[in-house]
Amino acid sequence: MGKLNNKIAFIIGGNSGIGLATAELFASEGARVAITGRDENTLKDAAYQIGENTLAVKADVLNLSSLDEAYQQVESKLGKIDVLVVNAGIFKGAPLAAFTEELFDEIVDINFKGTFFTIKKALPYLNDGASIVITGSAAAEAGVVNASVYSASKAAVRSLARNLSADLLGRKIRVNVLSPGHVETPIHGRLGLSPEQVKGLREELANGVPVKRVGNAEEMAKGYLFLASDESSFMLGAEIVMDGGWSQL
Ligand SMILES: NC(=O)c1ccc[n+]([C@@H]2O[C@H](COP(=O)([O-])OP(=O)(O)OC[C@H]3O[C@@H](n4cnc5c(N)ncnc54)[C@H](OP(=O)(O)O)[C@@H]3O)[C@@H](O)[C@H]2O)c1
Repeated sequence: MGKLNNKIAFIIGGNSGIGLATAELFASEGARVAITGRDENTLKDAAYQIGENTLAVKADVLNLSSLDEAYQQVESKLGKIDVLVVNAGIFKGAPLAAFTEELFDEIVDINFKGTFFTIKKALPYLNDGASIVITGSAAAEAGVVNASVYSASKAAVRSLARNLSADLLGRKIRVNVLSPGHVETPIHGRLGLSPEQVKGLREELANGVPVKRVGNAEEMAKGYLFLASDESSFMLGAEIVMDGGWSQL
């Protein structure tokens, strides 16, 4: 018996990294899964990898009307949503003196505004009693060079989980946060670095983690499964940090 049998799960940013590993685990636990992302090619590949009957919908959280269309497709093809994972996000940074308004807006618009409106627009499509899991970051609890706006955007979504859980109490919808530390995903390859530099960066990051390694997406997926399922029924407005002790020790 799967932990998500008969559940409809929608993973925003489910075509890559942590979201993809989570979608695979949810499908193996019996959920009917839908995913979004921006990249049509990885969306198609990811749907194949997750398994037959996976619904892949192209949507950009910067384009709010594309979210409406995505929710309409999920409802018409799968039904109302029981588990919503709000995982789309980018990591970008710059030295404070060089930080531009454009870079600030891009990070905040995707990570914070995107998260808020993804949840707001989901409301007509969610079942009462649904579980919403937002991807935060252990960086929200740390001081990271060049990452002030990224970290603040993740502190903002941590706050959203508390406030939106309060707003949605009447519908018994729980909102919690999964905050990863450094995890090996395509996110590092998007920084414009060579494969050698990405490898070097991951080694450097691992060195700063108490357990001397970065995490993997499959480890994170287990945390999302707990927050998505009834096993976390007494948790709301709360957070699980999975970071090898990076922000905690
Ligand atoms: N990896 C880490 O070390 C780490 C640490 C802490 C927190 N996180 C957070 O974990 C989440 C997943 O990251 P990841 O590491 O798995 O990285 P990833 O492989 O780069 O995945 C990012 C996901 O977000 C989607 N996305 C980005 N911008 C979007 C937009 N404007 N509209 C819709 N979808 C968008 C991507 O879709 P496309 O591929 O189609 O663009 C992709 O599915 C992010 O929120 C990230 O901040 C990651």
